[in-house]
This record gives sequence, structure tokens and C-alpha cells, in this order.
Amino acid sequence: MPVETSKQDLAKELERLAEAAPSVEHLMTSIVSRLAERLEKYAWVGFYILEKGTRELVLGPFVGAPTPHTRIPLDQGICGAAASSGRTIVVDDVHSDPRYLACSLETKSEIVAPIFVRGEVVGELDIDSHLPSAFGPDDRMLVEHCARLVGRYLEKSPT
Ligand code: SME
Repeated sequence: MPVETSKQDLAKELERLAEAAPSVEHLMTSIVSRLAERLEKYAWVGFYILEKGTRELVLGPFVGAPTPHTRIPLDQGICGAAASSGRTIVVDDVHSDPRYLACSLETKSEIVAPIFVRGEVVGELDIDSHLPSAFGPDDRMLVEHCARLVGRYLEKSPT
């Protein structure tokens, strides 16, 4: 089966999961576990949530090695850059990016997609790979889709 087809299937499966999720924590946990389980090159998969008072990114559900970066200020790291710019960032070689905050010595490439609620960034989905240039256009589509599912879920949740 072509890789693109399986990513499309996974995207649809996660969409159904979002419709049935009892809470956003449940949804985020399901997304990180499915992505890490199905896509071998996704070595670390985790959410960061923007804390309202401090405006820092706080680590949420994740799968992979424990990271020292459980809180990231918006002016630090690739994570801070994605959240503060509101743009997806793909880094093919983390060691040539001065913004990179190391999580694992094995990490070679990274993708971070912001989560929006009514146009405001509220968090992000961060994925690391042990392979260089691991994230192509189909990965970007899948990761942005997952971020959108969480944003839409939060938009529908009572505040
Ligand atoms: N590499 C990220 C930090 C988070 S860890 O990868 C889990 C960054 O540069 O912001």
C-alpha cells in the first residue's frame, strides 16, 4: 500500500476518533499514540499547550523518551518559534538550526504544527525523527490535520 494512502487512512481514523473523544486530553493521548505506533520514523510525538498566565508552552501528552523541555518560553526553541509565528516549522537537520533545543542525541529532523482556536495559537504538535529530512509534504498535511482536530475539538468544547 502506498505510504500516502496509509497516511490518508490514518487521518480519517483520527477524525472519527476526534468525533467520539470524551475529552481533549483523551484525544491528544490517542493522537500521539496512534502516530508513534503507525509511523516508525516518528520517534517522539508530543503536544505542548500554551499556558494562559505565563505564556509558556507546557508539555502535554507525549510518546517517546522523557524530555528535559517540559516548559518552553515562546522565544526559545523550534517549538517557541512555531507557536509565536503561528506557522508550521519543518527542520530537515536540527543540528544546523541555532533555535534547536536538544531533546535526544538521536534526533535529526523535526516538525512542529501550531494548534489554533478561533484564530489564536493555543498549543502545538511536535514530532522528532531519528532520520534526517524525515518530514515531507504528506507528513506536514497529516501533522497539521491532527493539530486542526484538536483546535476544532476545543472550539466545540464549553469554556
Ligand atoms: N526540539 C524542541 C524542543 C522539544 S523536544 O524536541 C521534545 C525545540 O527545539 O523547541
